[in-house]
Amino acid sequence: MMISKETVSALNAQVGHEFGASMQYVAISSYFSQEGLPELAHHFQLQADEERAHAMKIVQYIVDADGSLQIPSIPSPRAGFKSAEEAVQLSLDWELKVTQQINDLMDLAIKQNEHLTRNFLEWFVTEQLEEVSSMDMLLRMIRRAGESGLMFVESHLARKIHGGTAETAAS
Ligand code: FEO
Repeated sequence: MMISKETVSALNAQVGHEFGASMQYVAISSYFSQEGLPELAHHFQLQADEERAHAMKIVQYIVDADGSLQIPSIPSPRAGFKSAEEAVQLSLDWELKVTQQINDLMDLAIKQNEHLTRNFLEWFVTEQLEEVSSMDMLLRMIRRAGESGLMFVESHLARKIHGGTAETAAS
């Protein structure tokens, strides 16, 4: 095996966190669908797909390094939110927690002089900057718009995702 047992165990835990994030974003997407906000629902569906891809990236690394894949049990995601702001705040908190988890993994790789794992984790370190900053921006927009102005956020996301307006995207 090319990486330590300690690393494999920590990476397995991270696979669980990433799948957990994916499930949480599916739950948030369905909340936005129920609230009649299809672009926010679509946005969180894309986030869920990204988290699954993160999990699979780590799975592939464990397999390539001849480690034993042991996916931990994943807690049920939270369902039901008081507001869009609460759902997106939860997402930002989650991303900040994942950033700390990735930093801890990197610390472990450095402590063990495991250059292969350090190199692998670099991508995740950079990715977290984008994940946190885009979630933070979405939260700021939602706060500025307020619950009654969420269609402005919908229009913004529609332009970003489809290159059109919410109206044309919905038709
Ligand atoms: Fe996989 Fe959004 O962290």
